[in-house]
Amino acid sequence: MQQSNKNRPPLKIAVLGSGKGSNCQSIIDAIRAGTLNARIVCIISDVKNAFILERAQKHGIPAEYISAAPFKTKLEGKAEQNYLSELRKYGAEVIVLAGFMRIIKKGMLEAFAGRILNIHPALLPAFPGVESWKQALNYGTKIAGCTVHIVNEGTDTGPIIVQRAVPILENDTPETLHARIQVEEHKAYPEALKLLSEGRVSLDGRRVKINMD
Ligand code: GAR
Repeated sequence: MQQSNKNRPPLKIAVLGSGKGSNCQSIIDAIRAGTLNARIVCIISDVKNAFILERAQKHGIPAEYISAAPFKTKLEGKAEQNYLSELRKYGAEVIVLAGFMRIIKKGMLEAFAGRILNIHPALLPAFPGVESWKQALNYGTKIAGCTVHIVNEGTDTGPIIVQRAVPILENDTPETLHARIQVEEHKAYPEALKLLSEGRVSLDGRRVKINMD
């Protein structure tokens, strides 16, 4: 992840998602536009009829539903092994969590150490967990936003690569706020992946350093 090199081969990304996959679409779009030097090798969902899988098929990207049962909120045990063997089969270098609503546990964290990214709909470390835009609105903050971070053993606690702020407006509802946060998410994820694909990301403790030379 250290040295910058314009002639790098495309970064091989696996996207994991549980829902509609709009962040995944923003990554697909950035690749197609030529602004992100990457290839999505597979898209995997823990939800059988998730729209993210339809997006994959539409774009000719291998799509897999892999059950994460019996767990409801984490990926562990046999299910984790099933995910890992698919990720290896496709030669994934980086795992991109795009609305994947499960906690990543030790097995995957060790297998892809420092190579799992997540997008979170808040300016971390504020409002980790679920429905963070609602948390921000209910708390009464004036600025919300989104964060792309490297996944570690905590929940939404890993080193931060990119953040984008979104002002909260007087008449915001959870839905209007989340929609505006998503607009910024769709810029933040391709931006973070571009930095990674260009070898500009390194770690200094828990601080992400961006090398722009
Ligand atoms: C995004 O807003 C993402 O930040 C959030 O789920 C949504 C997925 O949307 N993730 C989390 O809340 C993770 N804790 P998408 O399926 O359209 O990309």
